[in-house]
Amino acid sequence: MSDAIDEYFEVALELVKSAGNLITEYTSGCKEYKLKSSDIDLVTEIDKKVEETLITGLSKKFPSHKFIGEESVAEGAKCVLTDEPTWIIDPVDGTLNFIHGYPSSCISLGLTINKEAVAGIIFNPIVNQLFTAKKGQGAFLNGKPIHVSQVKDMKNALVSFEVGTSRDEEKKKAVLENFKMIVDKTQGIRTVGSAALNMAMVALGGADAYFEFGIHAWDIAAGDIIVREAGGVCIDPAGGPFDILSRRVLCASSAELAQEMATVLHQYYPERD
Ligand code: IPD
Repeated sequence: MSDAIDEYFEVALELVKSAGNLITEYTSGCKEYKLKSSDIDLVTEIDKKVEETLITGLSKKFPSHKFIGEESVAEGAKCVLTDEPTWIIDPVDGTLNFIHGYPSSCISLGLTINKEAVAGIIFNPIVNQLFTAKKGQGAFLNGKPIHVSQVKDMKNALVSFEVGTSRDEEKKKAVLENFKMIVDKTQGIRTVGSAALNMAMVALGGADAYFEFGIHAWDIAAGDIIVREAGGVCIDPAGGPFDILSRRVLCASSAELAQEMATVLHQYYPERD
C-alpha cells in the first residue's frame, strides 16, 4: 500500500507544482470573478483551470481513481466519498485572498483510501511554501520535517479561525461568540483566509489550533493528514471523531488542547457535504 501511495503522491506533486504557475501569474490579484453560494463565495477562471489540470493529469495516470473537486461540485457533480482512492481538490483555497492579491492562497490536494486521508499536499506558490505528508512518513515544509507546537492549554495558545463564506445569521452568531471567547481565553487570534493554510500553520507549530464551521471536505482533506503526521490531532469541534464530510473541523497541537476547546466552543451544525 505504501509503495502505491508513494507513486500516487509523486504524480500529484508534479501536477500541483506545475498548476502553481497558473496562480503565480496573478500575484497582485485576479479581478475577474463570479459569485457561487453567496456574495462572498467567489470563483475565478483560475480555480477552474487548476482543478481541470489536476483531474486531467491524475485520471490519465490513474483511470480508476475518484475525485471530489470544489469547482466540479459547484457545477453539479456529486460529493460522494467511497473506499476507492479519491482525490479531494481545492484548486485555490483562499480564493478571496487570491482575488485581492493577499498572498495567502494555495492548492490543497488530499488523497483518501478507505475514506481516510493518506496523503496531502498544500502548496502556496506565491510564497513558495509546500506542505506535504504521507501516512506514517511525517509531515514536511519544502522537504524539511515539521512538528506541531508543545502547547497543551488554551491560555498559552495562538488560535486561528475563519468567518467563512456564508452570511447565515446563526452561523454569524456562532462566529462572533467564538471570537469573543477566543479573545478572552487564549494568547491571540489569527485569520489567514484559507482553511488549508490554517491547518498547515498548526502542523508547522506556528499556530496551536484552528477551528471552523462550514468548511467543505476539499478545504480540510490535505490539512487533516498533514496535521496528524506533524503530531497533532483533528477532531469534531464538539469533541467527537473527525468527520471529513461534516463541514466542521478542530485541529490542534495536542488532544488536551483540542478537548479543552471543544468544551467551550459555541457549536454550529451546517448541512453536511
Ligand atoms: C474558503 C477558505 C476560507 C474558509 C472558507 C472556505 P475557498 O475556501 O478556506 O478560509 O473560511 O470556509 O470555503 O472558497 O477559498 O476555496
